[in-house]
Formats: sequence, C-alpha cells, structure tokens
Amino acid sequence: MTKQKVILTGDRPTGRLHIGHYVGSLRNRVAIQNDGNYDKMFVFIADAQALTDNMDNPEKVRNNVIEVALDYLACGLDPSKVTLFIQSQIPELCELSFYFMDLVTVSRLQRNPTVKTEIQMRGFETSIPVGFFTYPISQAADITAFRATTVPVGEDQKPMLEQATEIVRRFNYIYGETLTEPEILLPSNAACLRLPGTDGKAKMSKSLGNCIYLADTADEVKKKIMSMYTDPTHVHVSDPGHLEGNTVFTYLDAFSRPEHFERYWPEYAGLDELKAHYTRGGLGDMKVKKFLNAILQEELGPIRERRREFSKDIPAVYDMLRKGCEEARAVAARTMDDVRRAMRINYFEDVALIEEQSKLFAENA
Ligand code: TRP
Repeated sequence: MTKQKVILTGDRPTGRLHIGHYVGSLRNRVAIQNDGNYDKMFVFIADAQALTDNMDNPEKVRNNVIEVALDYLACGLDPSKVTLFIQSQIPELCELSFYFMDLVTVSRLQRNPTVKTEIQMRGFETSIPVGFFTYPISQAADITAFRATTVPVGEDQKPMLEQATEIVRRFNYIYGETLTEPEILLPSNAACLRLPGTDGKAKMSKSLGNCIYLADTADEVKKKIMSMYTDPTHVHVSDPGHLEGNTVFTYLDAFSRPEHFERYWPEYAGLDELKAHYTRGGLGDMKVKKFLNAILQEELGPIRERRREFSKDIPAVYDMLRKGCEEARAVAARTMDDVRRAMRINYFEDVALIEEQSKLFAENA
C-alpha cells in the first residue's frame, strides 16, 4: 500500500483572519486543494486550543468560529474537497491526548520555544494553566488522529511539528508501528513566512492594530496601505530609498506577480526594476503604495465578495461544519481503534484475551 497524502491544518478562532494568515498558509491551502495532489484534506477551527489561553473569554472563541469559517469559504476552501470541522466536536482528540501525555516529559514541554515565548507574552509566569502548557500534546493528537502526512502552517509552528513527530516515534516504538509521522509545509517565499504589520512591526497582530483583515472593506484596505510604514529616510522623492524593513516592498514581495506590472504599471518590467528605481531615488512612496493597493484590491475583492455571499446564509455554514465534524469524527474514531488495539486496551474486542484468561482462571480454580 502506498502512503496516502493527507493534508491537515487549523487556526485558533481568536479573531478574523488577516492577510498574514493568507500569504502564510491560506493561499497555499487553496492551491493544494485545487491542484488535487492529495488523498484527503482537513482544515479545522481549533476552538479547544484557543480556550487554553482564553478560558475566561469563551464568548470570544465562540463568536470567532463563524468568522474563521467564513474566511475559509471566502478564500476558496471548498467543502466538497476539504473536510472543514471544529476541534471541540471531536472527543477522540481528548482521548488521544490523554495517552500522548504519558509519552512527554514536563521538561520537554518546557523546552518548546513557541510555548516558552507565548508564556512570556501572556504573562503566565508561574501560574501557567496546565491545558495551555500541554497544548503541543493536544496539537500532536490533532495531527495524528487524522494520519496527517503534510501540515501547512507558519514557521512559528515548527516546534509543534517536531514535538508531534517525537510523540509518533515514541508511540510506534513502544506499541508498534501505528501512527503516521507528519511533515511541515512552509511557504516557499520568505516574505510570506512572517508578514510584518502595516506599521512595520515584526508581526501582524490584532492587539497591535496593524492588520489588514480579509473582511476589511476596499476603503479600509486603501487607508491602511496609504498610512503604511516605508523608509523613514526617504523624505523627498529624489532621495534614494531603502528596501530593508520597508513594509510596502515586503508586501510586494508577498503579493505581486508579473501580470500585475503589465496591468497596473507597465513602465516597469517587474519588481526588480521597480526596486532598482526606488533604491536609486526619484520614485515616491505614494506611487508604490497605489500600485500595492491595486494589487491587494484585485486579490481581496473577490474574497470579500464571497465572504458577503456566504454570510447571507449562516445556518448553511453551520450545516457544512456539522457534516465536516461527522466526517472527521469517523476518521478519528478509526485511528483510535488502531491506537487502542496497539496499546492493548481494546478489552471487549480481544476475543483471545478473554478466552486465555478464562482458561487460566479455570485451571486455577
Ligand atoms: N497552533 C496552531 C496555530 O496557532 C493551530 C493548530 C491547532 C494547528 N492544532 C493544529 C495547526 C494542528 C496545524 C495542525 O495556528
């Protein structure tokens, strides 16, 4: 049997998705979906994981489940090709996490760099919720319950994938070859790995107010682009400009394609020529921003339009998610059967065990 290619990924529903999510992973997922080079694809809303650091704000998580679902559909994820589901509705994931907990040490979790930074960022210090501390284990369950082979995520998720791989190896070593090792799939374009905020800060984040959301109106997008951080030393048009740390150019790296030049700025053969002119001097920020705006409007317009269409029928979106949950649950349940069999905790199915023990007890009677 050749190994199946199973794609799986998810997002925490703590807010609407922005263009950082889009270039970092969403766009990639839609491309994978459309080229059809996979056997099964799952995309899910990680509400249970979002609760690990939002336990006191379940309303926020609950309300953002539908926002993320709409963002998925708006980007072009197609429920007839991809199983879309909600994490908390798959109890098998808790069951699998519980057994995985026996395979991971506290010190190994403490060394997970993503968890380390997140603990600092959230100011948990010594009062870390156990659920939050152990979410890499639950994430390993998310991945392995569906036998994912390929996990398209951002770079910050690398430690999670490493930890999941270790758990799989340890499980298979102890209980026999049962689970599938996952591989991370990162965007190939460096600008897409971590798209900076519109203010030039390293990361787009809701709390910094530097995001362009997929649901933003055309006006909002334009306003945000026009006030974007560029090169503070580029005061006069004639000044030479710098590309390093220049957010507008990072966005162009992430979004522009040769046909955009043909369509909107045929004076330049491509991005390299534009960059050369900017660096030489004599090219104003406003012109570059207008070009970026044209590109982003072209890309985001259809997404916004589809989002609006889908949001007209919210019950249909929930119906789609319900079906996705049922499908996903059936898959996770099959993996759990294999897991229980491997761990020898499938008592009622194990006819040999019951026979053997009844003989043993009869002999000793
Ligand atoms: N931790 C991921 C994030 O914050 C979300 C997530 C949860 C996930 N479980 C997953 C991603 C499994 C990929 C696979 O974005």
